[in-house]
Amino acid sequence: MGSIVQAAKITHVPSIWMSHTIEQFHGIRQSAIDGLDELGRRAQASGVETFLVFDVHWIVNQGFHINAKARHEGCFTSHELPHMLADLDYGYDGDPDLANAIAESVDKAGLRAMAHDTPNLACEYGTLVPMHFMNEGSFARVVPVAANQYASIDEGRRMGEAIARAIADSGRKVSVLASGSLSHAFWPNAVSADGLNKVNGEFNRQVDLRVLDLWQQGAWPEFLDMLPAYAERCYGECAMVDTAMLFGALGWADYQGTAEIITPYFGSSGTGQCNVVFDPPPVP
Ligand SMILES: [Fe+2]
Repeated sequence: MGSIVQAAKITHVPSIWMSHTIEQFHGIRQSAIDGLDELGRRAQASGVETFLVFDVHWIVNQGFHINAKARHEGCFTSHELPHMLADLDYGYDGDPDLANAIAESVDKAGLRAMAHDTPNLACEYGTLVPMHFMNEGSFARVVPVAANQYASIDEGRRMGEAIARAIADSGRKVSVLASGSLSHAFWPNAVSADGLNKVNGEFNRQVDLRVLDLWQQGAWPEFLDMLPAYAERCYGECAMVDTAMLFGALGWADYQGTAEIITPYFGSSGTGQCNVVFDPPPVP
């Protein structure tokens, strides 16, 4: 039997790479880096063999897509924010068996799913930034999962549930990561540089903080009830489908686990960010 041995909502903001590589910005995202390092240490201690990353920067418009390549290798520069994130070298083994099993399971659930082993299908930074810190030494395989920007929260839930079934049948120990923002309102361009370390809007900041409270209280039904409105009103990154997939994999409203904040809430270019780990669901 396979199992989810780690589950987390994680940050991937390019300012992490600025903090890591540009002298002038050194340290601005140290708590995010420390949190990703800590999650990596815990993953290794839990025997994680594969990181499954719900990547809201691999944005798709139709269906559900899984990267099934045997090897991910390259040098990444962000087209969105090239001044923040450039020249990130990476090299990880993929997990074609798990990727294909997930596609089959998701397809069986009635959601059109496709696994791709295409030489030029590269990784996006929702996967690459966290993996740089969490998967040091490339100890685990990596499977990026795309985020459909037009999928509903309910489709995300069903996708996550189907993924959990595939993991249970896989024999793998898997870390499931929702790599995406809380609120996601970028600053208007004219003030974007000044807003590097701030959340855009008190409403978004307060709702994000309330969500983190609900997570710490284990108030899962309340959070899940508000998730569609939260995604809409707080400009969810890819409509927060990564979060929906994560909670689908955890068991949705039946989930009984607790959350632990690894990196306290912070603002980045207007968006709300955190690293939060959730108890893994019971082995089915
Ligand atoms: Fe992002």
